[in-house]
Amino acid sequence: MTRALFISLFSCLAAINQASLINRCDLAKVLHQEDLDGFEGYSVSDWLCLAFVESHFNISKVNEYADGSSDYGIFQINSHYWCNDYQSHSENTCHVACKELLSPNLLSTIKCAKKIVSKAGGMKNWAAWSIHCAGRPLSYWVTGCHMG
Ligand SMILES: *[C@@H]1O[C@H](CO)[C@@H](O)[C@H](O)[C@H]1NC(C)=O
Repeated sequence: MTRALFISLFSCLAAINQASLINRCDLAKVLHQEDLDGFEGYSVSDWLCLAFVESHFNISKVNEYADGSSDYGIFQINSHYWCNDYQSHSENTCHVACKELLSPNLLSTIKCAKKIVSKAGGMKNWAAWSIHCAGRPLSYWVTGCHMG
């Protein structure tokens, strides 16, 4: 009894600590719901591979660079081109505050990612996708996920 209580308390704390991480299949489901499957020719597997190599599925990941810009969120979207973090010059092509790209509901970050992948080069706009995902078998990323 005590032991069971201790274990559930422990898993609860672990869950809080991991709140910024999204489960692979939960992410697959959101991507599917937001019509990314086939969008600009990329599958949910492509998006999962991209999210993994960019953020390891960490929705709140921020990575600062020496030039003053930062990458935001699960797809590590850069403030120099795509979003405004009010700290360095930004083209702000997605017309969005970078902070919004960290929202747990993922809607703003998916909207901006759609804009990026619609530009010339598609997913090659993410260097990590070109290096780690392009031209590789990726279907295992959706293994066991029920998206429909
Ligand atoms: C997610 O990213 C944030 C910000 O970069 C970091 O503080 C946090 O520790 C990360 N979470 C995990 C579980 O790696």
